[in-house]
Amino acid sequence: MKKTEFIWLDGKFMRWDEARVHVLAHALNYGTGVFEGIRVYNTPDGPAVFRLKDHVRRLLDGCKMMGIEPVFGGKKYGFDEIMEAIKETVRKNEEVDYVKPCIFLSGEEVGLNPVNVPVSMAITCIFMGAYLGNAGTEGAKLITSSWHRPDNLCSPAGSKVNGTYVASCLAKREAIRQGANEALMLNASGHVAECTGENIFLYKNGRIYTPASAESILEGITRNSVIEIARDMGYEVVEAEVSRTQLTTADEVWMTGTAAEVVPVTMIDGRPVGDGSIGEVSKRIHTMFHEVALGNVPEYGRWLDYVN
Ligand SMILES: Cc1ncc(COP(=O)(O)O)c(C=O)c1O
Repeated sequence: MKKTEFIWLDGKFMRWDEARVHVLAHALNYGTGVFEGIRVYNTPDGPAVFRLKDHVRRLLDGCKMMGIEPVFGGKKYGFDEIMEAIKETVRKNEEVDYVKPCIFLSGEEVGLNPVNVPVSMAITCIFMGAYLGNAGTEGAKLITSSWHRPDNLCSPAGSKVNGTYVASCLAKREAIRQGANEALMLNASGHVAECTGENIFLYKNGRIYTPASAESILEGITRNSVIEIARDMGYEVVEAEVSRTQLTTADEVWMTGTAAEVVPVTMIDGRPVGDGSIGEVSKRIHTMFHEVALGNVPEYGRWLDYVN
């Protein structure tokens, strides 16, 4: 990851090293924040943020779930103000391919009570490159984590709540320790849910399957894009319960996420997926997704928000 020069904090640009919060910030101690991860692509018409409106909607839905009022530095921020702040932060920095807005409880007090704790928002831009390194092109190895994907009785599974990511971090550590790139997380019912920061798809007998939204997944924006792209390409896509057996015996498996993009999976728990090579369907979808994100497919132009 490469740093950039400016971070937007509560309505002001701060230099990277000066963007600080107090050690007692509520979110630091109790995970009370919501965030987004958003990609910026260099298109023929300049830098464009991919599906910015959908990310801002999910961020504000997350605030609603957490009971967080988006008021920073005494000013209330709605959808339009947050859209503009994100675009402004991208414009202000150089070499940006990923933006991470985070709305969180700040303050300087000890105690769980989140009511009336001040709220802050930070918008950080970085150059991330390929989140999963070579696995993005060569195929990823997964393990099944011993940690479950937190369900809606633990925290709002459909929102990117900071504290919920403890389970993802534990699972990711497990994967790295075992020499894998990513961890698959099952839900409390033992069905396939998703990976630590990606949704999951499989292809078998001519159909594409992905866990349904009620399976304690984050409804990924890349997931949604890939479903639409795949249907437009003529594939049948089924959103349903997915069992471990279905995933292990699939012809092809791939992950989707803003950071990871579309990543083929070639090994799960030491067993090859299909014949262990990258399948044709995942290759086609990977290629099409990139063309769309890079602004080369006019039918999907509505997904790009140009910053200039
Ligand atoms: C737990 C989890 N699942 C899935 C995803 C993929 O979501 P999206 O495509 O919106 O980035 C993410 C990434 O943000 C995630 O953190």
